[in-house]
Amino acid sequence: MGKHLVPLSLALLLLISFASDVAVAQILFQGFNWESWRKDGGWYNFLRGHVHDIAGAGVTHVWLPPPSHSVAEQGYMPGRLYDLNSSKYGNQEDLKSLISALSDSGVKSVADIVINHRCADYKDSRGIYCIFEGGTPDSRLDWGPHMICSDDTLFSDGTGNPDTGLDFAAAPDIDHLNQQVQRELSDWLNWLKTDLGFDGWRFDFAKGYSAPMAKIYVDNTSPEFVVAEIWSNMAYGNDGKLAYDQNAHRQEIVNWISAVGGPAAAFDFTTKGILQAAVEGELWRLRDPNGKAPGVVGWWPEKAVTFVDNHDTGSTQKMWPFPSDKVMQGYAYILTHPGVPTIFYDHFFDWGLKDEITHLTSIRARNGIHPGSTLRIVASDADLYLAAVDEKIMVKIGPRYDVGNLVPSNFQVVAHGNDYAVWEKNAGDME
Ligand SMILES: *[C@@H]1O[C@H](CO)[C@@H](O)[C@H](O)[C@H]1NC(C)=O
Repeated sequence: MGKHLVPLSLALLLLISFASDVAVAQILFQGFNWESWRKDGGWYNFLRGHVHDIAGAGVTHVWLPPPSHSVAEQGYMPGRLYDLNSSKYGNQEDLKSLISALSDSGVKSVADIVINHRCADYKDSRGIYCIFEGGTPDSRLDWGPHMICSDDTLFSDGTGNPDTGLDFAAAPDIDHLNQQVQRELSDWLNWLKTDLGFDGWRFDFAKGYSAPMAKIYVDNTSPEFVVAEIWSNMAYGNDGKLAYDQNAHRQEIVNWISAVGGPAAAFDFTTKGILQAAVEGELWRLRDPNGKAPGVVGWWPEKAVTFVDNHDTGSTQKMWPFPSDKVMQGYAYILTHPGVPTIFYDHFFDWGLKDEITHLTSIRARNGIHPGSTLRIVASDADLYLAAVDEKIMVKIGPRYDVGNLVPSNFQVVAHGNDYAVWEKNAGDME
């Protein structure tokens, strides 16, 4: 960082030392939505103009969209993996310059890795799309139907191994038990690290292949940051309402993290599902029977990447959106709690919540709240959730205004908004 400190104003000095403080306590930023590929002049170039605001919010990692050639504009139907010039988000040089601008501001870049399935460039003699092109003049990642899972009968020649995870119906599922596949995908990931400057991976549809397969790629590429999408249906009661007990849901995510090991973490879909139900007058959901947070964050906070919405659940797809009028309550929870919180591009920029979110991340940073911070839940009634984090800050979610004597008198309100408030101990000393 030292080289950036030379001629800048004191304000910027403080900003930079703040950014390096929170490098220990990670904050992820999802740097795109479902429509980003449409941006005139390219998304990478556009986002490069916003690096200052992103870094200023204490963000340590930015999750970028899948970078390779893809049959679908958003990047989730990749084909020529080494071809980063055919992406709708911009070309390889644009991407490199975005990553280096982020890096110059102390922010790491996370690539969206879509390797469950892959789209072929050509048909074979049967007339089936199963001949893959790597996107280089040489034979790297040039594959045929033997690299497709044998039970993916629509595309394979039946001589690969059976799929180790769920099938993705719309494209051939890659046979990750094939050692050439393992080696060539690991080489490609390492190329993304060394040639492009990526520091970590977000594994798309990680239920599509087993955790031991993911472990191979993590072990072969030593990423600094790994987060997986393990997205399953939650438990519902006979009345159709979200069940209180979501232990099976969070257990599946924890099992993946544990099996992959090392830097592996996962999105906390359990917390998202519970939190967005809880803010609808059911805040009792936010304490499990053991007094802990009810999501992954209650069991393994250091590995729980919490979020409010992403390009699938929110944006224009709205598959499972957080109640739009209560989004700041969601941020008040994840930005004060243990876990690795994620800020979504849409909320930060398009919804005008940049200052409110940045205020919460600054409170998080100056109190040293980190993924493994200690959570003590003080109240979880229908209309009031109140918790202390590291006994340094307290957060209230919910419409109840009078919290009585639950907040000690040496705590002062330092942030408040639509049905949330944050108190800081001895706030006067710290500001
Ligand atoms: C993409 O463009 C860069 C130059 O900007 C070039 O070095 C690279 O080889 C190109 N890749 C492909 C697959 O054409």
